[in-house]
Amino acid sequence: MSTRFLIRGGYVFFPEEEAMRRADVEITDGRIARIGETIHAEADTRIIEAQDKLLSPGSIDLHAHLREPGREDTETLESGAWAALAGGFTTICAMPNTQPPTDTREQAAFIRKRSDELGLARILPVGATTKGRAGEEITEYALLKEAGTVAVSDDGDWIYSAEVMRRALEYAGMLGIPVITHAEEPNLCAEGVMNESAVSARLGLNVRPAVAEEVAIQRDIALASCTGSHLHVAHITTARGVELVRQARAKGIKVTTEATPHHLLLNDEALLSFDANYKVNPPLRTDEDRKALLEALKDGTIQAIATDHAPHAIEEKEQELDLAPAGMIGLQTALSVLWEGLVESGIIKPELLLRLFTTGPASVIGEKVELKEDSPANLMVFDPAARWTFDAESNRSLSQNSPWFGKKLKGKVEHVFLGERHFSF
Ligand code: DOR
Repeated sequence: MSTRFLIRGGYVFFPEEEAMRRADVEITDGRIARIGETIHAEADTRIIEAQDKLLSPGSIDLHAHLREPGREDTETLESGAWAALAGGFTTICAMPNTQPPTDTREQAAFIRKRSDELGLARILPVGATTKGRAGEEITEYALLKEAGTVAVSDDGDWIYSAEVMRRALEYAGMLGIPVITHAEEPNLCAEGVMNESAVSARLGLNVRPAVAEEVAIQRDIALASCTGSHLHVAHITTARGVELVRQARAKGIKVTTEATPHHLLLNDEALLSFDANYKVNPPLRTDEDRKALLEALKDGTIQAIATDHAPHAIEEKEQELDLAPAGMIGLQTALSVLWEGLVESGIIKPELLLRLFTTGPASVIGEKVELKEDSPANLMVFDPAARWTFDAESNRSLSQNSPWFGKKLKGKVEHVFLGERHFSF
């Protein structure tokens, strides 16, 4: 017997046209069978009423830290994939700063195999740019790619040697995969915990200044230009940084970039609370920088929202700011907080936000996003009006280091369809 669902009356985001309109969508045996204005349900159809809800292709996250292997107490591939699904992500890229790092074909193959076994959000490995993430010797990109690696990155650290970075871009360019740079010049950030600003002066904390990002992006763009290869700038945060990317793109240099929900919604004044959940690398910036990111979303300089989901244990995060590790989790909350913060507040259109969660990130790693008859079901239903609390009960991650933890949120992913599998939340 076939399994049939009818999602009725939802506002459907059609990625090919980047348009939204009301439609019924029928899913039969894991494929989109029919799309129409009014579809009459056949017998044995499970009906999902989606009036005033959104139906979109599943989101893609270019940047998630899952802690397997090494720190499975804070996140596993399985718990991360659940958190992803609950946030509407059907594909996530796993950053390689695990212990050991994803720097061999075997490590990458392990992630792909585990992802297939789990059958949850698809996990695509990002391989380390250099062996042991030490910044010295590049890894075997051809072998990593063979095992399913979609990009290389030493995320967490900038590649200090320009010569190594040049070679990385040359090799990755030959294989058609991007090099993702963590753009912070380390000497300028030594011991730094927050942005350099009036707030850091007041708090007397060590800084990670905006110029560290600018210096790093400038060098990496020069190398992308000289090699003709694809550079992707991770978690961009500064007004100057986006301006550099904008200018490079206008010259035809292959540079793409992403922004996180926290850098789009929060600024460095959050640190006045001394709450280490606001400690992230790169740090939260000034409101001027934040507004420059919003402009860059609108003019297409930034292609993707990326969560930089970074789980850490409570006891580590509860240390003082200098000692607490940097990062916050974000897979489960990204769409909710950005919908309310950017779409409902009228800053950007829903079509743009959905592009930044789907076709935008897909274009960075050469993936395709479809919502049409006969394509595999890869969909999520989001209710922008639903209210929920992000707490121990609803949280699917093994960690809870998020400034939104314990808060009431608006907008919730209710269903995810992934081939023949259906998940409700
Ligand atoms: O805040 C961050 N946390 N930034 C990074 O680049 C790494 C990440 C982590 O792995 O915890």
